[in-house]
Amino acid sequence: MAQGVLTVAIANEKGGVGKTTVAANLAQALGLAGVSVTLVDGDPQGSLTRITDASPLTATGALGVAQELSVSDALYATQPRQGAPVTEGTMRQVLTAAGQHWSPLVQVAPSNVDLASRADETWPGALDRWRHALAGVPSQVVLIDCAPTLGPLLVGPLRAADVVLLVTEAALGAVEALARVTRTLEGVRADRDGAPRLLGVVVSNYPARESYPAQLLAQLREQWPVLGVVPRRAVMVKAEGAGAPAAAYGAETGAIVEEFAQLAQIVTEQANKERG
Ligand SMILES: Nc1ncnc2c1ncn2[C@@H]1O[C@H](COP(=O)(O)OP(=O)(O)OP(=O)(O)O)[C@@H](O)[C@H]1O
Ligand SMILES: [Mg+2]
Repeated sequence: MAQGVLTVAIANEKGGVGKTTVAANLAQALGLAGVSVTLVDGDPQGSLTRITDASPLTATGALGVAQELSVSDALYATQPRQGAPVTEGTMRQVLTAAGQHWSPLVQVAPSNVDLASRADETWPGALDRWRHALAGVPSQVVLIDCAPTLGPLLVGPLRAADVVLLVTEAALGAVEALARVTRTLEGVRADRDGAPRLLGVVVSNYPARESYPAQLLAQLREQWPVLGVVPRRAVMVKAEGAGAPAAAYGAETGAIVEEFAQLAQIVTEQANKERG
């Protein structure tokens, strides 16, 4: 939540609804629009790290063994020791470039299974490490791809974010999970003077010409500020396997790229407001 940086938590408790796909492709759309972005992989599954083809930096750890630097290390390094103050801005030290298919304005704070250990830590202040670690990140927008949980790996990012972008499929289980995330969000907001605000909902992986998802989408639009609907395209699975954004697939993903360009516009306007 550094001055002038818009920090967005991308969330849903339900797994597999498209959070990571939205985070990565929104980052690419922002990059193409000239906005610098830090993508924070907030999930021990490391999917965002994989699909952005990011190569973590390495450092020599205990016993001289090289280890990959990740979000887990950045959170760990904020920890106050022996009465010393909290260390701010540690996320900068783990940032690495996204792969060759991505805009040079997109950088990644990678994750791996180590992040699961950070979720187990519940000492006072543990949840605020995300906010401390992210201080001074050198980009205009920070997107945190949250893990599918209501636990510390959601609450920590929510305590660092200015706004929340919820992602759902047009499927009942995913929509029901939005209500649970909202209750967790309300808890954080009560503690933070109303922050973070809900930016809106993105409906992902939307199948055309199916009546039930269409009904659900209509209901969603009545209850939530739906900012975009990303159509289902089989090539997205291929793109992710290749560590590439939708934008690398030309006409096949044209409608998807268009949705993300519009979403990037909304996020950019919000970032400009944040800068005041
Ligand atoms: N628009 C789309 N068209 C086709 N497939 C999609 C689309 N969006 C997402 N997918 C696919 O759906 C699967 C789940 O997407 P993704 O990993 O983004 O979900 P997630 O919510 O981040 O999951 P998790 O909760 O496990 O982190 C992936 O295989 C992805 O390729
Ligand atoms: Mg994910």
